[in-house]
Amino acid sequence: MLGRDVFCRSILLRNEVSDPKRYHLFFVLLVLLFLLTCLFSYPDAYSNIPKKVTDEVARYIPITLQSSSPTIVTSNFQNSHLKTREDPYFAFNSSDCPTEEWNNIRTSSIPNSKLHREWLDKKLKTIKYLYHTSPSVLAAFVHKDQIIVTLTSENQYNTTVYCRYYDCRRREISDHFESVIFPQSTVFCARRPGAKYISISKTLKENPEYSVPIVPRTQRPPHYFTVCMATLYGDEPKFLQIVDFIEYYKLQGATFFHIYLRNVTDYDRVLLDDYVRTGDIEIIKMHDHYWRDDFMWHNSQINDCHHRNKYFSKWTAVIDIDERIEIRDDSYRTVANYLDTVHNSSIVNLHFLVQWVIKQNNTPARYESDEQLIREMIFHKYQNTSKVGDLWNQPKCIIRPEKIGAMTIHLPTAVYEGEQFTPVPPSVGVVRHYRNVEQRVFAGALQRMMSHGPFTLLPIPHWIDEELTKTIVRRVKWVYNPVDVECIKKQRTYNIHGGISAPCWLEEQAMND
Ligand SMILES: *[C@@H]1O[C@H](CO)[C@@H](O)[C@H](O)[C@H]1NC(C)=O
Ligand SMILES: *[C@@H]1O[C@H](CO)[C@@H](O)[C@H](O)[C@H]1NC(C)=O
Ligand SMILES: *[C@@H]1O[C@H](CO)[C@@H](O)[C@H](O)[C@H]1NC(C)=O
Ligand SMILES: *[C@@H]1O[C@H](CO)[C@@H](O)[C@H](O)[C@H]1NC(C)=O
Ligand SMILES: *[C@@H]1O[C@H](CO)[C@@H](O)[C@H](O)[C@H]1NC(C)=O
Repeated sequence: MLGRDVFCRSILLRNEVSDPKRYHLFFVLLVLLFLLTCLFSYPDAYSNIPKKVTDEVARYIPITLQSSSPTIVTSNFQNSHLKTREDPYFAFNSSDCPTEEWNNIRTSSIPNSKLHREWLDKKLKTIKYLYHTSPSVLAAFVHKDQIIVTLTSENQYNTTVYCRYYDCRRREISDHFESVIFPQSTVFCARRPGAKYISISKTLKENPEYSVPIVPRTQRPPHYFTVCMATLYGDEPKFLQIVDFIEYYKLQGATFFHIYLRNVTDYDRVLLDDYVRTGDIEIIKMHDHYWRDDFMWHNSQINDCHHRNKYFSKWTAVIDIDERIEIRDDSYRTVANYLDTVHNSSIVNLHFLVQWVIKQNNTPARYESDEQLIREMIFHKYQNTSKVGDLWNQPKCIIRPEKIGAMTIHLPTAVYEGEQFTPVPPSVGVVRHYRNVEQRVFAGALQRMMSHGPFTLLPIPHWIDEELTKTIVRRVKWVYNPVDVECIKKQRTYNIHGGISAPCWLEEQAMND
């Protein structure tokens, strides 16, 4: 009461002393004024819609609709925006394609084509793998001087093919380019003005495969250090390995990940999709029109990773989900810091040797609690580590993608310039390879690992353990431990939607009966 008095006095009566009843009257008037303002500013968009329809809408969206609204003077505020002339920004029709300066380029040859021919004649790669009968286009990237198309077929090396171009409305641009499949799963194509999609065909008569978007790679690389993760498949639960992998390499300075996906559980996929949301990863689904077992995607995955990262990143690590490149020299600490010290342009492939870690169990299928999560973290649970393997024992690479001509799992088979491989001394860095002892696909893997004894406990560096534990817990809880509410609150929300009931509410009712 005192508050109201003071309020009215100060605003309206300027401290004159008068009848207290008047203050109350003024206050009531103020409230009325407020309510009227609310009423008139209520959007009248729904006022002309029959009640039946508004009731139906209210079932799906949380809004209170006034179907039989009082006669409100319709202000013409919506119509006042109507103009007769079209906004020039939207002055195009269903058949127009914009002319883009950067894409208004036509080329008639492929860079390094002489070199490619030489490599081809040296039979750089001749193994025909699997049974595809068409090129099987995976993706395409446009550079200043060419378009690189990646394929999933691996049996059509040296086949003559045609690059088929499409405009922004996927109409074919009748200006094809003849090329050859080389290396194994790649076609280099010339550029065409306005080309936005591309396909590859073996003849000019056939209806080409579905075209794919041509992704721009015409700027200075936006990333410094990226990581490709080899194709995910198989029955071991993955969420903890995925979050460990991504958070670990982020601590090493990586800023983007290409994750190749064959198959994971729906639960694991939720995590991947959340990393897509935050712009940390791109998922490349490995799937085409032909038979192949899940583990047989490796070569075409490596090939795609190589081309996808050209002019996307300065350095790219080409590795598997269970491998962690670790810097052992404290003067560098992280991979990115180490890369910062590489200035010799003939270094185009850093070759890391491997230390194996015995991993006896699968990682858990689901998050249960922080304690469980921290206990199950791979780097906490598995530390029994082998000696460093020798030069050709499954080494892994960090490459300069644009300097490499053809890439395989452990080594480039051709480079445009520089050394084919530059071994990194184990005192500077190694790959910590967590190897599950259960045989899954490859026979003899366990014996090969055990031959690298003696094994000794070797924890990861303390600062990484600390940081990584924190970042993993944070991400996992964000994704898998959403905030719950009491059943009564759920029931209130369900009720808005045409009076339906929350499942928990029905359960409670049933128990009380
Ligand atoms: C679309 O606009 C272009 C000019 O931008 C014009 O040449 C063409 O005839 C238009 N097409 C249709 C179907 O209106
Ligand atoms: C590639 O194909 C051409 C014919 O198009 C042939 O002359 C050449 O020998 C082939 N090279 C290899 C390495 O198969
Ligand atoms: C994918 O993985 C799930 C779960 O591991 C499995 O049930 C399913 O059969 C797999 N699908 C394929 C196509 O491999
Ligand atoms: C650059 O690296 C190459 C290959 O390792 C080596 O031969 C050359 O001496 C290096 N140059 C400099 C300036 O370090
Ligand atoms: C590490 O692995 C070796 C080889 O299997 C085994 O002999 C040794 O006991 C293990 N060490 C520890 C601490 O588990």
